Amino acid sequence: MTLLIRAGTQVTASDTYTADILVEGEQIAQIGVNLQPPPGAKVVDAQGMLILPGGVDVHTHFDLPMFGTVSSDDHYTGHKAAAFGGTTTVIDFASQDKDSLAASVEAWHARVGGKAAVDYSFHMNITRLYPDTLKELSDLPAMGITSVKVFTAYNNRLRLADGDIYRVMREARKHGLLTMLHAENGDVIEVLVAEALAEGHTSPAWHGRTRPAWGAVEAVLRGASLAAQAEAPLYVVHMNAGGEVDMLEYARRQGLAVMGETCPQYLSFTEAHLSRPDGAKWVCSPPVRGEVDQARLWQGLEEGILQVVATDHCPFYFDGSKAIKYEGQAVAIPGKELGASDFTQIPNGLPGVGDRLPVMWTSGVGSGRLTPNQFVSLNCTQPAQIFGLYPRKGALLPGSDADILIWDPKKKLRYGVDVAQHRTDYNLYEGWELTGFPRQVFLRGKLIVDQGQWLGGAGQGRFLYRQPFGAIL
Ligand code: URP
Ligand code: ZN
Ligand code: ZN
Repeated sequence: MTLLIRAGTQVTASDTYTADILVEGEQIAQIGVNLQPPPGAKVVDAQGMLILPGGVDVHTHFDLPMFGTVSSDDHYTGHKAAAFGGTTTVIDFASQDKDSLAASVEAWHARVGGKAAVDYSFHMNITRLYPDTLKELSDLPAMGITSVKVFTAYNNRLRLADGDIYRVMREARKHGLLTMLHAENGDVIEVLVAEALAEGHTSPAWHGRTRPAWGAVEAVLRGASLAAQAEAPLYVVHMNAGGEVDMLEYARRQGLAVMGETCPQYLSFTEAHLSRPDGAKWVCSPPVRGEVDQARLWQGLEEGILQVVATDHCPFYFDGSKAIKYEGQAVAIPGKELGASDFTQIPNGLPGVGDRLPVMWTSGVGSGRLTPNQFVSLNCTQPAQIFGLYPRKGALLPGSDADILIWDPKKKLRYGVDVAQHRTDYNLYEGWELTGFPRQVFLRGKLIVDQGQWLGGAGQGRFLYRQPFGAIL
């Protein structure tokens, strides 16, 4: 199939120019002015529109078992929601719940099954060091996996001791694997949670109160120090506190290869949301913080201290006892109501994979905080570079996959659960007026979303074997 996208304003991480894009098969073949359509080519007029690379969301949790339930978007519904929001590549986290890493990865492939609707890859969670785990890290690049996540929180479940994090980093580095860090202080959280429960505090607000920002700040510096000693690169996920940005900036000034990601929820909401009667909707770990934190996170994005905006998409129903209609079927999946009488039982996580680009365009570009080029850099190009997908993904270049958004920067919608395509019963941005949406979304040259119409399908997404030794930005 040959496609000519005509006269759109192309926005890359560094440039903005008007040109045509010729797509042959699944890749971009040529970019230039006044390109002539080959015989039989489909021509799409994009005058007045922006042309962006498909979004790359490097932090999703589809079909993730948690607290006796499962995140409510699976690898089809979540991919579909991603596509509607302009994201054509996602990276999920494989849990280390089998004896070997290879078996764990296989199990994650099995969870995807034939469901994938956009292109995808996996990071590997390392949550326990069995005798062979360190040795098995060398097997990951051949499986297409070039990043591992470690945790300083979730004691007795996911957390590794500092020495083990150091050992993972040191071994990961040898094989070109990037270590990703969930930064909170698990020990302090344990103490505060036990005390809060003993005092009878059960509401969602206590989720935030028992996970102090200082624990995250300290853990970022601890992670950076461990990375320095391991001579390994580090990527801090879901950064939420202003002090974390300070620590990252400090470490980068020392010349360390440390990078960071934040998510729209940390830029958009504060702990006051956790105190609302429906505060469980905002329960995620780490928690949303304060306005001063938001300002510093924005500054981190503007100044290049943070490199990536991802979503940590991990949705649960607010009331999973009631079914919603999804593609004509009634679907109920237990959710936040599981923690109605105990905040520690509220499944942690939020919907967001489809919201990211419209929210970031509205709050970032619309407010003048980010240029359109920074928007592309943070949401598409840099994530692809850091995670070994560039220039196949995150770029508008000859030879890149033709993952292309025809972006309408003026389209306004009163946003909410009825617009977002997530399989859950609420949306965090309910009632927000968002400006900037994809008009058309192409995945490897195939039109999968056309002005709000779903043309994609399960099985069209492809597993991406990522390159080791991704970019250090
Ligand atoms: O609350 C969240 N973020 N759930 C997903 C797990 C994680 O730590 O990213
Ligand atoms: Zn995490
Ligand atoms: Zn996560």
